[in-house]
Amino acid sequence: MAHINDNYLKLKAGYLFPEIGRRVREFTAANPQASVIRLGIGDVTQPLAPAVIEAFHAAVDDLATTENFAGYGPEQGYAWLSQVIIDKSYKPLGVELKTSEMFISDGSKCDCSNILDIFALDNKVAIGDPVYPVYNDTNVMLGRTGDADEKGHYQGVVYMPCTAANGFVPALPEEKVDIIYLCSPNNPTGTVATKEQLKTWVDYANAHQAIILFDAAYEAFITTPGIPHSIYEIDGAKTCAIEFRSFSKTAGFTGVRCGLVVVPEELTGTTASGEEYSLNKLWNRRTTTKFNGASYPVQKAAAAVYSDAGWPQVKATIDYYMDNARIIREGLQAAGITCYGGTDSPYIWLQTPAGLSSWDFFDKLLQECHVVGTPGSGFGPAGEGYFRLSAFGDKDKVREAVKRIEQKWGR
Ligand code: MLT
Repeated sequence: MAHINDNYLKLKAGYLFPEIGRRVREFTAANPQASVIRLGIGDVTQPLAPAVIEAFHAAVDDLATTENFAGYGPEQGYAWLSQVIIDKSYKPLGVELKTSEMFISDGSKCDCSNILDIFALDNKVAIGDPVYPVYNDTNVMLGRTGDADEKGHYQGVVYMPCTAANGFVPALPEEKVDIIYLCSPNNPTGTVATKEQLKTWVDYANAHQAIILFDAAYEAFITTPGIPHSIYEIDGAKTCAIEFRSFSKTAGFTGVRCGLVVVPEELTGTTASGEEYSLNKLWNRRTTTKFNGASYPVQKAAAAVYSDAGWPQVKATIDYYMDNARIIREGLQAAGITCYGGTDSPYIWLQTPAGLSSWDFFDKLLQECHVVGTPGSGFGPAGEGYFRLSAFGDKDKVREAVKRIEQKWGR
């Protein structure tokens, strides 16, 4: 009989969002009349921008003709897409990149997980707490960790508490680590790291030959001037950081699937015998072997996000969600609930009222207000007593959800 990967058995619970889905399905089956408002998983609700749809349709039409037909594309993505992203999204930040440093993918969740393929198992990994669960669980699945303790922390991982006291930006670890996950704007806390804070991390990583895995999936939601949209805005980041970006939230591609990874050519790791080796070369090798590229129509649609017609339309949807974030934040504040985030990110991180645990608040909110959110403890033990609301809903429903919360919890 084939042996399974026992590391999977170390995982404490099912993946967070399916578990929420299960509870909501149970509730709606028992209460079919309840009008449930979903502000849980960060899934978009607004249609794709018209220019994106047009490009998508045109690309499908290309596939119907012999002249324009596209078969396998480059595994790394089409250079016309990488170049437009570099020109429209990185150059304005003062960041110069080559297309050979950008790898277009079918989404950032897979990238954040797949990147671990090119690193040895004996690397010490530092992960925030609370955190996007993918970073933690994928390290467990690979076998980089021991078992979980009673809190839910896995042996061998360095956890970096992200608390109100440190503004949800972790302090440098006391022990030497090799791989550091950073996410700004942060999922789940909705807070952002400043240039100075990121500089501290970049300096640490360069001094300790560590690699930062920088998740910038929510960069398009930053509204505060001066907050970095890319780790490469920080001097020295090209020798220590890999960046992940996503079209999911930026342009409503959660169902379309497109993301990207930047692996600068300067970036190196060491072989078992101590020689430096290019991470760009390794990631390219991995990509060409295990991936056949994001689909042609999807890449055409992604390029249209940055077209003259597309970007203002895409930006209008981002603004719509950020207005939802404002409505949630102001409503919670009016109800006397302490909350964070929601100004540079589509997530609002709130302290559960009346000292309820995260899951107790989840159940109460679902049963009494018919509103779904995400329990903070699902993102790690330091998230206990917190709760996340997503601003990706329909505005009228967001308003209604906030009204129900204010009625139930307001002072
Ligand atoms: C979230 O709700 O945290 C995200 O939607 C999950 C994801 O992007 O995979």
